[in-house]
Amino acid sequence: MTTTILITGANRGIGLALARHAAQRGHTVIGTARDPGKADELRAVSGPAGGVRIERLDADSDESCKALAKALAGTPIDILINNAGVSPDGSKDLATFDPGAYLACLRTNSVGPLLVTRALLPNVEASRRKLVVQISSIMGSLTNAVDQGWTGNLAYHSSKSALNMANTLIANQLKDKGVACVGVHPGWVQTDMGGPNAHLTPDASASSILDTVDSLGIEDAGKFLNYDGKPLPW
Ligand SMILES: NC(=O)c1ccc[n+]([C@@H]2O[C@H](COP(=O)([O-])OP(=O)(O)OC[C@H]3O[C@@H](n4cnc5c(N)ncnc54)[C@H](OP(=O)(O)O)[C@@H]3O)[C@@H](O)[C@H]2O)c1
Repeated sequence: MTTTILITGANRGIGLALARHAAQRGHTVIGTARDPGKADELRAVSGPAGGVRIERLDADSDESCKALAKALAGTPIDILINNAGVSPDGSKDLATFDPGAYLACLRTNSVGPLLVTRALLPNVEASRRKLVVQISSIMGSLTNAVDQGWTGNLAYHSSKSALNMANTLIANQLKDKGVACVGVHPGWVQTDMGGPNAHLTPDASASSILDTVDSLGIEDAGKFLNYDGKPLPW
């Protein structure tokens, strides 16, 4: 039985690698892009189940999320991967942080996954797997920030902590419907965001994330996991 996976921000980086690996594994893939006209690499992805269905989505916009839900009405989505994210340079420390950049980061990284999940919940509920994966980050770990004395990017770290809390709460809200919401850290990955010195290629990260996702079920609702499936500190 084919599994349908929807990946947000699938036109580059980890999202594009997830789309490639999911397609190679025979899954039906729906990839979103803010500008589908420029998603050439995503358009070239194909696998045993065919090419990727590309849909437009700006995860910051509730209207855009609702338009996506309308376009996908009646299509079960087994696995929703909220991957789209930003890491603004101009929001690093107390002295210089830009409140506008901070709020924009919160909007995309914390509010966006909630808007997308809300809009596509009927599609997820109608599916066999009923899984929502939030691509979070170890940078959201309060435990590590305390233990290791982190001072880093105010907006990015805080946005992922907020996502982790929101995911815990919606996991508790949706568990009775059989929907499992799980947070996953993709590792430090060589993308536009992660930079060239990161530890993992997008392919290695995506392949490991999909292995982990394969094994997830309702008993994993609310967990915060590394890409290799190991639990992470909150
Ligand atoms: N790379 C790492 O080391 C690392 C580590 C931990 C966590 N993560 C997380 O992994 C996810 C993917 O990161 P990445 O490294 O692949 O980043 P990336 O290469 O910068 O790609 C980000 C993707 O998100 C999309 N996006 C940004 N804002 C959006 C919005 N409002 N609506 C829809 N799509 C939007 C981008 O679309 P456009 O092309 O239109 O900008 C792009 O497709 C993010 O959530 C990130 O926080 C990454």
